[in-house]
Amino acid sequence: MHVSRRSFLKCGLTNLCAVAVAAPGVASAENVLLKDAGLAKGIDVGSAVRSRVSQEVAKVVAQECSLVVPENALKPANLSRGPGDYRWSDADRTYEFAKANGLRVHGHALFWHKQPLKWAQQQLDGRGLQYAIETYGDFARAVISRYPNTVSWDVLNEIAGTRSMLRNAHPMSEFGVDLFASLLHNARSIAPRAALVINEDNLESGTSESRAKRKNVLKLLKSLKERGAPLNALGVQGHLNSARLPDPEATLDFFGDVQSLGLDIYLSELDVRDSAFDSDFRRRDDQIAELYWKFLSTTLKSRAVKRVVFWGITDAENWLTNGTSQQKRRPRPALFDRYMGRKPAYYAVREALARAPGR
Ligand code: XIL
Repeated sequence: MHVSRRSFLKCGLTNLCAVAVAAPGVASAENVLLKDAGLAKGIDVGSAVRSRVSQEVAKVVAQECSLVVPENALKPANLSRGPGDYRWSDADRTYEFAKANGLRVHGHALFWHKQPLKWAQQQLDGRGLQYAIETYGDFARAVISRYPNTVSWDVLNEIAGTRSMLRNAHPMSEFGVDLFASLLHNARSIAPRAALVINEDNLESGTSESRAKRKNVLKLLKSLKERGAPLNALGVQGHLNSARLPDPEATLDFFGDVQSLGLDIYLSELDVRDSAFDSDFRRRDDQIAELYWKFLSTTLKSRAVKRVVFWGITDAENWLTNGTSQQKRRPRPALFDRYMGRKPAYYAVREALARAPGR
């Protein structure tokens, strides 16, 4: 299914249509790739990829992106099954793909409570902060040392809470910020040049939970800074949701606060959950494009945003379409459809990049 740029312009984004018609020079040219639209403004464009990426998806990613993120291969639970036991082959495949295509790699994620080092988790109970620091520190050392050319690392993934500064879950609740400050110091000692990142979810919606999370993340960043923890960027996942719409203006204000702490911002896991949108897929595609447009055209005004990464740039290999092949209504979260056709969302994103101020 190939949707042309013209059909994106007809899709009801009235303001955009008006500007595109009145000032065609401002709109991005027909054949500009996403990565070039981004690089012209100092923004890297990327995608999460599977370790066994299909040839079709690999081609799209290599063409449109300047950066890739292993979707699952580097997660602690997948990489290590016991002390000193590492399974590198999946991650190796992604690094080889990246090298062969001149793509930079972002490492995701050295600590994530949802996919922890399972073997260590049992032993963490009752063993104290020092054991946690050493176990996760040793893991990070092994992973970073194996992939020294990684340009940036999610040292910490989803640690902030909604009701409190840190998530009320193990091991955040026991060890608090000290554990995370230590893990950042440890990462810096092994990766002196890589950007160190905290990656967080649910920061962009208009819900009270998201509002609370934005406040808690700011508190967390300040508290890490007070401990002298090295940190370069905040990852803002950006899993946009048709049922809990984003609040781009509030997100932009939040970006201003993050920037004033001296941090860059990476939009790190963009996609759209489309369940509340139209069942007709053409109308739905337009609504999805409009959502990307509204979010990105506002948030890219912040010059702190240095990356726009999709959590799977195609519907073909995407966590939101996993296991949905038998459904009547398949989700359409990404910029390319299952047959590698560009959807209206593609043109919306490219236009948002083309209109972003340079950084
Ligand atoms: C998801 C992957 O896409 C899935 O394949 C996996 O089963 C679960 O994890 N936030 C994150 C990502 O930080 O690591 C998650 O990725 C999506 C939510």
